[in-house]
This record gives sequence, C-alpha cells and structure tokens, in this order.
Amino acid sequence: MSGAPIGIFDSGVGGLSVWRQVVHHLPDESVIYLADQAHVPYGQRSAQEIRAYCSEIAAELMAMGCKAIVVACNTASAVALEHLRQAFPQLPIVGLEPAVKPAVELTRSGVVGVMATPATFQGELYRATVGRWAGDVKVVEQVCIGLADLVEMGELEGERCDALLRSFLNPMLAAGADTIVLGCTHYPFVIEAIRRLVGPGLAVLDPAPAVARHLGERLAAASLLCSGSCRSEHQFFTSADPQAFDHAVARLVGARCLSQPLTWREGELLRG
Ligand code: DGL
Repeated sequence: MSGAPIGIFDSGVGGLSVWRQVVHHLPDESVIYLADQAHVPYGQRSAQEIRAYCSEIAAELMAMGCKAIVVACNTASAVALEHLRQAFPQLPIVGLEPAVKPAVELTRSGVVGVMATPATFQGELYRATVGRWAGDVKVVEQVCIGLADLVEMGELEGERCDALLRSFLNPMLAAGADTIVLGCTHYPFVIEAIRRLVGPGLAVLDPAPAVARHLGERLAAASLLCSGSCRSEHQFFTSADPQAFDHAVARLVGARCLSQPLTWREGELLRG
C-alpha cells in the first residue's frame, strides 16, 4: 500500500500548484492528478453540484488504487471535505483552507486580505477558520470571479490579467491589508504578477508548501510513506481535452503526461 499513488484533484489546473509542492517535498511518491475541466470553474456552482463531482472523483481515485487524496481546491474543500471524509473513512484526505492563521501571525497592519471564490467564502470551513484564528485582525474578503478562468486559459500576464488583478487588489490595499492570502489553488500561478502590482512591502501567501508538509506527516503517521525503493510515476487525467491539458501541465509545472495524454471521460466519471 505504501507504494500506491497519492491522488490529487482540482476543478482544473489550479491543483498543479499543490502537485509541484507535493512532488518537491515527497520526491519518491507517485501521484495521479485529476482535473475536472469539464466543470471548471467550481467557484460559482452550487454546493450540491460540487459535492457530487467530488464524490465521483474520489471514488475514481480510490478505484485507481490511491492511498490518500489531496483535495487541491479550496472551493471543493470548503464544500465537500467533510462529506468526502465520511464517505471514504479508510483514506487519509487532506484539504485546503485559506491560510488565515499564518496571515494573522504575519500582519503588522492588523488587516489581511483573502482572495477566493464565492463558494469558498460561503463554506463553513472558511467561517470556522476565520472564527478560530482572526482574533482582532480584520479579514477583508475579496471574491475573484474570472481569475481562475484566466489561469485555465494560460493567461498569466498581460494587460487583461493586470487589470483584473488590480480590480481585486485595490480594495484590499485601500482597506490597509499588508498580507494577502491566495485562497484558491489557481492563484499561485499569477503570484509574480500580484507581487509586482502590490510591491515588495506586502506578503503574499501560497499555502501549497504547508499542505505538502502536512500530507507527508499524515502519510508518515499512517505508515503510508513510500520507502526508498519506490519508483515515482506521475499521471495526469482531465475530464475535458487531454491535448490542451498536456500543454497546460507542461507550461505550468514543466511535466509531461506519460506517453499518450489520458482522458478521464465524463461518462466514465459519472457512471453508476
Ligand atoms: N482551484 C479552485 C480553488 O482552489 C477554484 C477554481 C474554480 O472556481 O474552479 O478554489
């Protein structure tokens, strides 16, 4: 079982920002990555819809023999994490939540900004995280409609990207935020543009390294870490166009799909 792959999924390419940290921290591990690009973006979908997609994906990853699952999507975690843990109690399932705790520890101005999708802000996980860690710190929520779509299209810089980012960053800056939390796994792919626009005085937090470390701890605690003799293999699946996804994977994280890009078809995904 310890030689089995880790399953990572997201609505699209965003979870690759988590994938690259997992591969960096746990280089011996094999990973299967699923992108539900037939349904991206998740952020404006109903909780019921997102939960249904996530359950199908988790079942698919289990059928592929995964030993653990990373829900590399804040939106899916906000809506479906508890549901998945109940449905698959035998698997360690690691989710993402906006990095409010480190931001609260870091801020000097007493104001932090969180960038995320509408569904993430509406979820109980986010409310609980803020309730638990914010204390006296003011948390400014910035819904970023359209940003995940831009990353999906590979538009990580340029006039349109800058204009959209400015429209999201300006209200947080005006409120006095000195720390910005990237509360969606798509956003680390535009972190350079964000840093350029906000300047060097602001901290911009990507939670992916902490998630990868946490995953390592969970696997170690369950005796599921791959031993030194494992040969790591990485597979990528999409519910949409495999050729386009193959190019996106190469562009965003420098990896290539193994041999033929694999299609994980919606019909298969939604079977049963
Ligand atoms: N990557 C997803 C997240 O972390 C969101 C993108 C979407 O709306 O599908 O929230």
